[in-house]
Amino acid sequence: MRILITGGAGFLGSALANTLITKNHEVLVLDDLSAGDPNRLSPEVLFHRSTITDRPKLWTLLQGVECVYHLAARVVVAESILYPREYNDVNVSGTVALLEAMRDVGIPRLIFASSGAVYGDQAEQPIAETTQPNPLSPYAVSKLAAEHYIHTIGALWGTTTIALRIFNAYGPGQPLLPSHSPVIPRFLSQALGGGSLVIFGNGQQTRDFVYVSDVVRALVTALTTDNVDHCTINIGSGTEVSIKELADEILAQTHASSNTLYSPVGSGGVSRLRADLTLARKVLGYQPEVALKEGLRRVLEEDPRYR
Ligand SMILES: NC(=O)c1ccc[n+]([C@@H]2O[C@H](COP(=O)([O-])OP(=O)(O)OC[C@H]3O[C@@H](n4cnc5c(N)ncnc54)[C@H](O)[C@@H]3O)[C@@H](O)[C@H]2O)c1
Repeated sequence: MRILITGGAGFLGSALANTLITKNHEVLVLDDLSAGDPNRLSPEVLFHRSTITDRPKLWTLLQGVECVYHLAARVVVAESILYPREYNDVNVSGTVALLEAMRDVGIPRLIFASSGAVYGDQAEQPIAETTQPNPLSPYAVSKLAAEHYIHTIGALWGTTTIALRIFNAYGPGQPLLPSHSPVIPRFLSQALGGGSLVIFGNGQQTRDFVYVSDVVRALVTALTTDNVDHCTINIGSGTEVSIKELADEILAQTHASSNTLYSPVGSGGVSRLRADLTLARKVLGYQPEVALKEGLRRVLEEDPRYR
């Protein structure tokens, strides 16, 4: 198939692009490089630097495409609280711009990277897709709004749409950001740099950490699965790990003598997250394969930053 990945130079998009290439698909990537790096991509991937709202560029790139993976987005929760309009522009208006271009060109299938963040705080765990979302940040709102747009417009215009609500993905190459970095690269660099591991809050908050290859397998399966039209599906590990437990595991695996420090928690975060995978198992045959311990071992082995 000829496939377009928006945001394909990012952490998840590049892993997806490089996997699709090994399955003999023709892969095009559109990314404005605001957070991406084209050097992550296999040479066979056709890379185009452009923003998601550039209509003429979208039209050109969409010619002959059979499926679009839409991953381009601003992704930092704390930043979204400071710049909600920017998050709306890229994550919501950008999605609508893509949908219009897909309609004009006649693209039959869209797979969207949504987020477990849409659930916010929920008393019931694990969280099933039928749970009423409770977004706690503009980032989460933007992902939920984009989901509604793709399913509603997809139904109106006859496009097959699938949204995968990805929980906390991690793996080799996950960027370490100067501020508000994802927790695993931050803890790893703190441990290996001999610094303290800084835990925001009391460390009892939990996350569902899912290894990158499990996410990519779910995305690839969604390419050809039938009977999932306008469906929203959780993708996680199905387990929850507290941030304190994560810190302890990282200290054990890195053999670091660092201590843990506690710092006040920011807003926009949630207390517990654990994905219910019943629907993913049923419609995608999805089963997570890499547990956190093994995933961290692979990150330490494969990511040159941690050697
Ligand atoms: N990593 C996770 O844990 C996780 C969890 C849930 C959902 N997601 C979703 O998966 C997708 C990929 O996430 P990621 O972790 O790889 O993040 P990422 O920041 O590495 O990737 C996003 C990519 O989008 C690109 N981009 C941003 N704005 C753009 C624009 N206006 N036009 C074109 N490209 C643009 C960036 O340059 C970047 O390469 C995002 O949509 C994110 O919301 C990720």
